[in-house]
Amino acid sequence: MKSQTSMPLFEALCEYHRKNVIPFDVPGHKHGRGIPQLVEFLGETTLQVDVNSMKSLDSIGNPIGVIKQAQNLAAKAFGARECFFMVNGTTSAVQAMIMSVCKPGEKIILPRNAHKSAINGLVLSGAIPVYIQPGVDERLGIANGVKLEDVKKAIRENPDAKALFLINPTYYGMTSNIKEIVNEAHSNSIAVLVDEAHGAHLHFHEQLPVSAMEAGADMSAVSMHKTGGSLTQSSLLLVKNRLVDNKFVRIVIKLTLTTSASYLLMSSLDVARRNLAVEGKEIMDRVLKISRNARKEINDIEGLYAFGGELVNGDDVFSFDETKLGICVSEIGLTGFEMYDILRDEYNIQMEMADAYNVLAIISIGDTEGAVQKLVEALSEISKKYRRENISTAKPILKNPEVVVSPRDAFYSCQKTVRLERAIGQISGEAVMAYPPGIPIFAMGERITSDMVEYIKFLKSQNASITGTEDPGADYIKVLGM
Ligand SMILES: Cc1ncc(COP(=O)(O)O)c(C=O)c1O
Repeated sequence: MKSQTSMPLFEALCEYHRKNVIPFDVPGHKHGRGIPQLVEFLGETTLQVDVNSMKSLDSIGNPIGVIKQAQNLAAKAFGARECFFMVNGTTSAVQAMIMSVCKPGEKIILPRNAHKSAINGLVLSGAIPVYIQPGVDERLGIANGVKLEDVKKAIRENPDAKALFLINPTYYGMTSNIKEIVNEAHSNSIAVLVDEAHGAHLHFHEQLPVSAMEAGADMSAVSMHKTGGSLTQSSLLLVKNRLVDNKFVRIVIKLTLTTSASYLLMSSLDVARRNLAVEGKEIMDRVLKISRNARKEINDIEGLYAFGGELVNGDDVFSFDETKLGICVSEIGLTGFEMYDILRDEYNIQMEMADAYNVLAIISIGDTEGAVQKLVEALSEISKKYRRENISTAKPILKNPEVVVSPRDAFYSCQKTVRLERAIGQISGEAVMAYPPGIPIFAMGERITSDMVEYIKFLKSQNASITGTEDPGADYIKVLGM
C-alpha cells in the first residue's frame, strides 16, 4: 500500500489539470468556460478540476483505481478495515450504517438525542427504535452521553436488537463509555454503529476521547468536513467488519449514491486524510492549546462559563472533547440565541450553534490564536454591556416515548394537520426537536402526550428553536389519520 504521505486521488486530479484535456464530457460548463462569473469568483483551477469520472480518475460506483487507493489509505489512517468516501454528508453515512445492519422490523437501540439523519434512517430502513435517554446536564440544559447501565438494561430487555447506535462525541463534546458499551453489545451479537459527525479528529491525538474504530465499533460515520478539514459535504463511512457484511454495505451505499460524485469533494477527503495521518498529532496539539487557552480566558470573564473536562464523571460524560468550546451565557442574563446574534451582528463572529443557555464554538484545524482572541474580547465586552437578570433553565422531558407504529409506517400513513393542542393522544406523523437539549420531543410513530405539548409551548415562550415540523412555528402538527 502507498504511504500516508501520498494523495493518489488528489495527485491524479492535479495530473488531469496539467494535461489540459479537451472536454467533451459533462459537466457542461467545460472547465468553467460556460460560467465565467464563478470562474472569476472561485478561480480557474477550481472549475477546471470540477470534472466527472473518467479512466484516470476512477469511478465512485466501482472504485478500482485512485479512489480505491485513497479509500484504503483513509481506512488505514482511521484504524478501519474498509472506508467509503461519501459525498452527501454524514447524513448519507449514518443512513447507510442503519440500512446495512437493520432490516425492516428489526430493532435498533439508540439515544434519544440522535441526529435527525438517524431518525430519518429509521424511515428508510424500517427499523424499530428502542430509545435510551441520554444523561442531561441540568445546569447547562444539554444532553450528555448515555449511561452504561442504561445501555445494559436496554440490551437485557431487547436481546434481539440488531444494532446499537452511539454519538461520539455529542455536539458539545461529551462521550459515553464507548469501549465498555462495545464489549457489552458484542457479547450480545449486537453491532455498534457510531455517529462521529463531530469526531473526525479524535483518532489523531491521545488526549482526545477514544475514536469509534479504536473502541472496536463495527461502523462509524465521520464528518471529515466538520473537524477533519475537507470540503463541506464530504464524509467517510468506516467499517471494522465484525458484525457487518462489507459487500452489503457497498450495495446499500449504491442505492442512493450519485453517479456524478464531485472530485472537489473526494480529493479534499484525500488531502485532509493525509494531513491528519501525517501531521495529526502536531495539528491537534495546536488546536488543543488554542482551545485550552480560550477556555481559561473565557472563564475569567464574570458570568460566563466555558465548560470542559471538569464535567467528566466516568459515566454519561465518560470523557470530553476539549476542542468543543461550549459557553454557558445564562448568568449574564442573555439567552444563547441572543449571544449568537450579537456576536454575528455586532462583532462579525459566526458561532457554530446556540441554544437557550449556551453558544458553541468549534475549534479546529483552521483556527488561529488571533481569531480566538477576537472571540474572547467580544465576549468580554458583551458580558459588561448586556448584563441583566438571570434567565431560568428548562427541564427537558426525560420519559421514553410510546412508539405506537414504526417510523417508516408512520411516514407512509395517511396524515392530517391539527393544532398543537388537538394533537394530544394522537400518533405523530413528524418529528419535533428543540434546543435545549437537542432531544426529540416526539418523533414519527409516537404517541403525543400533554406533557410534550406543554413542553413545546414552554420552549416557544423561551424563543428556543423548534425544528422538524412542516409548520415552522410548530403551532400545527401532522398526526396519523384521515
Ligand atoms: C450528530 C450529527 N450527526 C449527523 C449529522 C449529519 O451530518 P451532515 O451535515 O454531514 O450530513 C450532523 C450534522 O450536523 C450531526 O450533528
